[in-house]
Amino acid sequence: MAVEVVPQTQAIGAEVRGVDLSKEISQEEFEQIRQAFYRHSVIVVRDHAFDDEDHIRFSSRFGELKRLKFNDFIGKGRPEIFIVSNVKENDKYIGSHDAGMFWHSDGPFLKHPHGPAALHALEVPMHDGRALGDTRFASTAAAYDALSDSMKQQLDGLLAVHSLKQRYEKAVKEGGVADSSTMNQAATQETEAVHPLVRVHPHNGRKCLYVSEGYTTRILGMPLEQSRELIDELTAHIIKPQFVYTHSWRAHDLVMWDNCSTQHKATFDYEPQQRRLMHRTTLLNS
Ligand code: SIN
Repeated sequence: MAVEVVPQTQAIGAEVRGVDLSKEISQEEFEQIRQAFYRHSVIVVRDHAFDDEDHIRFSSRFGELKRLKFNDFIGKGRPEIFIVSNVKENDKYIGSHDAGMFWHSDGPFLKHPHGPAALHALEVPMHDGRALGDTRFASTAAAYDALSDSMKQQLDGLLAVHSLKQRYEKAVKEGGVADSSTMNQAATQETEAVHPLVRVHPHNGRKCLYVSEGYTTRILGMPLEQSRELIDELTAHIIKPQFVYTHSWRAHDLVMWDNCSTQHKATFDYEPQQRRLMHRTTLLNS
């Protein structure tokens, strides 16, 4: 099968066709997929069933995978697999049920933020033949490109603080209870880090806005109120429709996103009894 790359919007997202993840992919095919990924920031592979081993084999071709140590939501026997799900067994969630509640990229509160992540849909909630629980992805690179020159100059050299605590407090405030995975992270990991507000992508050199609704608390060297205003302005800008791809899930989809050039947010439009089950791998480095 020949690899075909079908862009989903002008700014972000491409479906990669002609790929069956349950089979070994040649180096030449992988190179085409890799290029599509760094060009479109989010890739979608669908139509062929595959399992955790295939998921791990494919995503680890991009680099070393994170192995979970202390977490309730590790896939059976595979520390590379993190479970995202609203399913309960014996009255306990089997996965993180509130992942993606706010616009965010993964792990900005770490000194070395996470690299790309790949989410595999095993069960998708449906209503009247329509999939629920879409995930939206926004291009922080296209959003940066669209800024005025004076705004680009203003942002040059600024540093922002990202905090896991803010994510936890927001979840509690908005009526949810942060799940045990968030609390485990807070207990076992670094919880706050400072990064440039504009990150240069290590693979393609594009400048990306690195500020999110979910995690960014303040901009260094700026009065708190002004810092909050700028964060709000930038986070609203990033999620303008022209920078967003909305993924409507089908079982067996794999969606991989770049945590430098994108942010994402899940949609919680399904009922507790409608099962949603996803497995995720995450790369250690961008
Ligand atoms: C995530 O934020 O990793 C999960 C997104 C989703 O479940 O749609």
